[in-house]
Amino acid sequence: MCGIIGYTGKKEAGAIMLDALELLEYRGYDSAGIALSAEAGGEPKLLKRAGRVKDLRTLCAENDTSGTCGIGHTRWATHGGVCDENAHPHRFGKVTIIHNGIIENYRELTEKYGLEDKLCSQTDSEVVAAVLSRFYEGDPYAAIRKTVLKLKGTFALAILFDDIPGKIFAVRNVSPIVAASTGDGAILSSDVAAIVPFTNQYFVVPEFHVVCLSKDRIELFDLSGDKACIDWLTVDWDVSRSDKGGYPFYMEKEIMEQPQVIGDTIMPRIKEGKPDFSAEGIPDNILSDCKRICVIACGTAMHAGLVGKSLIQAMIGIHVDVVMASEFMYNDPVVDKETLVIAISQSGETIDTLEALKFARKCGSPTISIVNVKGASIARASEYVIYTCAGPEIAVASTKAYTTQLAVLYLLTARMAMARGLWTKEKLTAYMKELMRVPKVIEEVLLRKDEIHHIADTMLNARDVFMIGRGLDYSILLEGSLKLKEVSYIHSEAYASGELKHGTIALITEETPVIAVVTQDKLKSKELSNIKEVQSRGAKVILLIKGEEQIEQEKIWYRIFRLPVMADEFMVMPASVVLQLIAYYVSADKGLDVDKPRNLAKVVTVE
Ligand code: G6P
Repeated sequence: MCGIIGYTGKKEAGAIMLDALELLEYRGYDSAGIALSAEAGGEPKLLKRAGRVKDLRTLCAENDTSGTCGIGHTRWATHGGVCDENAHPHRFGKVTIIHNGIIENYRELTEKYGLEDKLCSQTDSEVVAAVLSRFYEGDPYAAIRKTVLKLKGTFALAILFDDIPGKIFAVRNVSPIVAASTGDGAILSSDVAAIVPFTNQYFVVPEFHVVCLSKDRIELFDLSGDKACIDWLTVDWDVSRSDKGGYPFYMEKEIMEQPQVIGDTIMPRIKEGKPDFSAEGIPDNILSDCKRICVIACGTAMHAGLVGKSLIQAMIGIHVDVVMASEFMYNDPVVDKETLVIAISQSGETIDTLEALKFARKCGSPTISIVNVKGASIARASEYVIYTCAGPEIAVASTKAYTTQLAVLYLLTARMAMARGLWTKEKLTAYMKELMRVPKVIEEVLLRKDEIHHIADTMLNARDVFMIGRGLDYSILLEGSLKLKEVSYIHSEAYASGELKHGTIALITEETPVIAVVTQDKLKSKELSNIKEVQSRGAKVILLIKGEEQIEQEKIWYRIFRLPVMADEFMVMPASVVLQLIAYYVSADKGLDVDKPRNLAKVVTVE
């Protein structure tokens, strides 16, 4: 959470930082601020305020923002409410900082260094500025070293010292920082997205290392002051993928990109018609020897894991647990050498997923992560990594990252079946053919977006929406329901159809739209009976059903959407896209800020 940017070079830092902060706003958008280093040394110019980056832009337009070196921040509040004083940067003595993370021992530090009456904000971050200032006697490295050794918690810090103009120092523990040369200077950020407009070469600042950005070079040191080697990475996104491409919202653009990015994710991993992870170096014995699988993830990524569970259990016959990463550590997790642990994360930075993964590795479990951002912490902490090729996902509500995660899980399932010698050649060929059809089938759904828009219109004034289905249909409804509530603020719940009558059916009235998904042949008759139960209570049922399935009395349905036909196990793909579009249109038509729903952040780096 919290977006971080720093630039020093030949250009105006203010303009560069404002543009970057807009790209980073998905990390949090409670308040924003910048500090511009004074060219001749002395106090930097600080501009910050509660609100969005556009409010900071207005403040900057009313002030002098000249300067070629600065740091900037967009905040997701943890310690201290949303107000101008709590916005970053924070300043103490000769030190100005921005911070992402949580300093757990900030109260002890406040007491220890007698800071009670000296702080202007309620944040844990200002305490770091104060401690740094106390240790700063002209040697930035010594001050940073002494400070970080006192800190407990997670942090990504970018620092300006009044008497070292033109230089930015940064250090981190867990929370990410990436850095790069821009040609005319140097840049650092919490995210690769802010770097892509300048270069495709970057590096991840290693934990407990200090990076120093000057106008003409970047230097990296370990905490004992020894120079460290920089491990350069290449990002394969182009800049155009970070803009809205003519769509009103990133969410729509990202939904529309799915045929392309699913193809990009699967096609390079299919060799001679078979799934292939040799580029990732994943040995088959990891897939064949495990006795069970444990998926750890949060939010949408966890919902992808649930689809993976249904798939793997049905097609491979081994037990799969999907555990919310935030609960993993508190439920006495049982993972061992025979448990394959799969961590799924778009950002690769979700702290709960990262901590759970590290624990699993300590227990000796083989680990594979499915991550979208190259070089992210989760990718580096796991034994093997499979990158989804979704490109930058900017909308807070995840769409294309989810379907590319599903695509990887389909591939993994097939490779696992091969490694275990479970399927006939014909079965594998048919499965892979169907997987390769997914981009085309999703394209068909996207072409029918107006039809889906009409369905969404029926929900604009709903107070509650229920979604029901069984098996794989239920797994995708959990995600469909999350999508609807996060972007439209309509209360929505996904229920396993058979479970509804154990209580929740009491909430169904004539005012309640119910979305029912029926795509699994073996469950169809049971699902249709469950739908009747809600129809009898007056619910307006919107039915998403596979293709030309025969259903009685078409007129009893409030709306019907006939999904393009695929093999049952692949029906989640077209159905998910319909649910994404419903959520999108409801939010957009309600005039909401689709890409930045209230209180949310895209990258969750606090527990
Ligand atoms: C946040 C985002 C969700 C995302 C979840 C997990 O809550 O708003 O869209 O699914 O974090 O993020 P990850 O980056 O680990 O997939």
